[in-house]
Amino acid sequence: MSVTVRPMTPADFDAVVAITRAIYPASPPWSHAQLASHIEVFPEGQLVAEIDGEVVGMAASLIVLWDDYSLDTNWRDFTDHGMFTNHDPARGRTLYGAEVMVHREVQGQGIGKHLYTERRALVERLGLLRVRAGARLSGYHRVAGKMLPEEYTKRVVTGELSDPTLSFQIKQGFHVIGVARDYLRNDPESLGNAAVIEWLNAAVATPADYAARDKWDVG
Ligand SMILES: CC(C)(COP(=O)(O)OP(=O)(O)OC[C@H]1O[C@@H](n2cnc3c(N)ncnc32)[C@H](O)[C@@H]1OP(=O)(O)O)[C@@H](O)C(=O)NCCC(=O)NCCS
Repeated sequence: MSVTVRPMTPADFDAVVAITRAIYPASPPWSHAQLASHIEVFPEGQLVAEIDGEVVGMAASLIVLWDDYSLDTNWRDFTDHGMFTNHDPARGRTLYGAEVMVHREVQGQGIGKHLYTERRALVERLGLLRVRAGARLSGYHRVAGKMLPEEYTKRVVTGELSDPTLSFQIKQGFHVIGVARDYLRNDPESLGNAAVIEWLNAAVATPADYAARDKWDVG
């Protein structure tokens, strides 16, 4: 199986919408207006993965100045309601991962990994400090009555539990730096909760950046 990752074009919008509908049946899918806005404000940040000419995954990102936000900012505010019109390459040093998804039928075959390899390469090319994102805790609903999202996240970080999304992100080199409740609306899997995750660009990160990242207590 040969996977190609390339910039998104308008010809990909229908396929991306179809994947979104299948993965998030309880949420409104990406709209063409949102996807067109992403391409307009930051074309390099919008990626699709394809196999034999068929779009099977995507990753969408924008650049933010982190100081304009906080660890518990929700997805809507990080993405300006999904339009990315808050993209701020003049001031920002953080690539914000707003979405990554792979068609259900081909999950677990390395496609998400390809998308993240390209995302990290983009950060290195642009000389940005890091990638940050909210990793929705998609397995949290299974234990919600038994533990808080913070406890769940710690157990996933230590490997005691596995989460379909966060365990993948950890394999991609991400560290957890916080937990955001109310990050998402309409997500019956995470119940709105996300781990705030970070990957630092070793070419520009300082010891202070690593120290700040490692402050989150996985105790
Ligand atoms: C999360 C997602 C993008 C991963 O994409 P994928 O193509 O299935 O992942 P890959 O096959 O590239 O897996 C990469 C690595 O993560 C691991 N991984 C993937 N899913 C995992 C899971 N559910 N549990 C544990 N590890 C997992 C793989 O084993 C692989 O490890 P390796 O590098 O040692 O081989 C995909 O499952 C998805 O679309 N999920 C639904 C949408 C979603 O929740 N997106 C995140 C929004 S925050």
